[in-house]
Amino acid sequence: MSDVLAKYYALCAASFDQKYLQPDLDEDADAVAEHLETVLANKSVLELGCGSGFWTETIAQTASAILATDINDEMLELAQERDYPDGVVEFAKADWLSLDLPAGHQLNACFGAGVWSHVKREDYSKVLGNIRRVIGAGGVLILVDDNTVEGFTRPVARTDAEGNTYQIREQADGARVEILKNFPTDSYMKKKFSAIARDIRLSRNEYFWMLTCVLK
Ligand SMILES: C[S@@+](CC[C@H](N)C(=O)[O-])C[C@H]1O[C@@H](n2cnc3c(N)ncnc32)[C@H](O)[C@@H]1O
Repeated sequence: MSDVLAKYYALCAASFDQKYLQPDLDEDADAVAEHLETVLANKSVLELGCGSGFWTETIAQTASAILATDINDEMLELAQERDYPDGVVEFAKADWLSLDLPAGHQLNACFGAGVWSHVKREDYSKVLGNIRRVIGAGGVLILVDDNTVEGFTRPVARTDAEGNTYQIREQADGARVEILKNFPTDSYMKKKFSAIARDIRLSRNEYFWMLTCVLK
């Protein structure tokens, strides 16, 4: 894992939900929620990087079970404070680069919001392989992440040799840190995901892109 990325989110956990207060983001978030509630209905869902549980709360409305994971205890504690239907959501600390999960979960779908932009291009196959190991062939994968939005998205400060892009962000302790934040194109994702997935659907509204596929 990237210590810088994990620490950045640990320090901003308490204020993380402010992102969702952006006034014109509601309509786009509602469209994403509708898709998640439909596709993940009656599924046993592994959630990657659940953060404060903003989307966990949404998918818990229709999923039959959720194992919500994050690398940070600070985020998991916040996520656990939300209201969920009885017995639907369990939490576990896990790094998507290794995805060591507690035993006893039969999962057939995976969801992650705001996580894929923090996966290095060269780690795509590793993380997709981990997801496939857990949810198996035929499992549904949905990823939701950020588009570049004029006046909202921080500029890209650097692009590395692999094509990964980085932003400079001010951490809650005042330090300025370089955070991996990729904005992959549809064609790049289709090419990369087609090795492990079929029925790949990509859509975008102003704030979010959304990829839905079935693992081969
Ligand atoms: C942009 S936030 C998204 C949170 C939430 N899914 C949402 O959309 O509101 C990214 C989350 O990924 C977590 N994270 C960062 N690196 C991780 C890793 N290697 N494995 C698991 N979670 C990680 C962070 O702690 C943070 O909660």
